[in-house]
Amino acid sequence: MKKIVAFGASSSKKSINKQFASYAASLISDADSIIIDLNDFEMPIYSIDYENDKGIPEKAFKFKEIIKSADGIIISFAEHNSVYTAAFKNIFDWISRIEKIVWYNKPMLLLSTSDGSRGAKTVLEIAYKRISRGNPHSIPTFSLPNFDDNFEINKGITNSKLNKEFIKSLELFTLNLS
Ligand SMILES: Cc1cc2nc3c(=O)[nH]c(=O)nc-3n(C[C@H](O)[C@H](O)[C@H](O)COP(=O)(O)O)c2cc1C
Repeated sequence: MKKIVAFGASSSKKSINKQFASYAASLISDADSIIIDLNDFEMPIYSIDYENDKGIPEKAFKFKEIIKSADGIIISFAEHNSVYTAAFKNIFDWISRIEKIVWYNKPMLLLSTSDGSRGAKTVLEIAYKRISRGNPHSIPTFSLPNFDDNFEINKGITNSKLNKEFIKSLELFTLNLS
């Protein structure tokens, strides 16, 4: 059984990106999925002074351990002011202080969604550029626009053209897992 770690890069309790990442993970056959909630990894805002005085918070090591234990990682990015949410960026900054290798070159699927017509594409592009650097796997991406119109919890993506694109990305991710 492969182990998939999935999360929405948002701290919203009702995060649509968490829903979307969980949904994507649920479609991978013969796999156990672990869904992370970023609220469980809230830490002081990264600062070099905090790090020098008090070290790296235990929660950063815990997060890194979960990432290390995964066979594949699915992240769906929420977009705040055209970039990462502060909640995700803070975790990213802290875990990047543990080791240079952040995502362990694991197979990854990068998603994004928003209520708007761009589907948080801007943050997805930023995330892809950063996360794909040095990763030997090709990393598929998919952005779902207008979440409320195009997604239903029991049906998944209701727009067939978008669903086709999504499944293509999911299949590439699944291929990278084997
Ligand atoms: C502070 C803030 C900034 C936002 N900036 C953007 C943005 O730049 N682009 C966008 O598409 N949506 C933006 N939104 C709307 C979010 O995409 C929307 O809240 C979405 O639900 C976030 O995903 P989540 O539910 O997974 O947290 C913003 C929302 C907030 C609260």
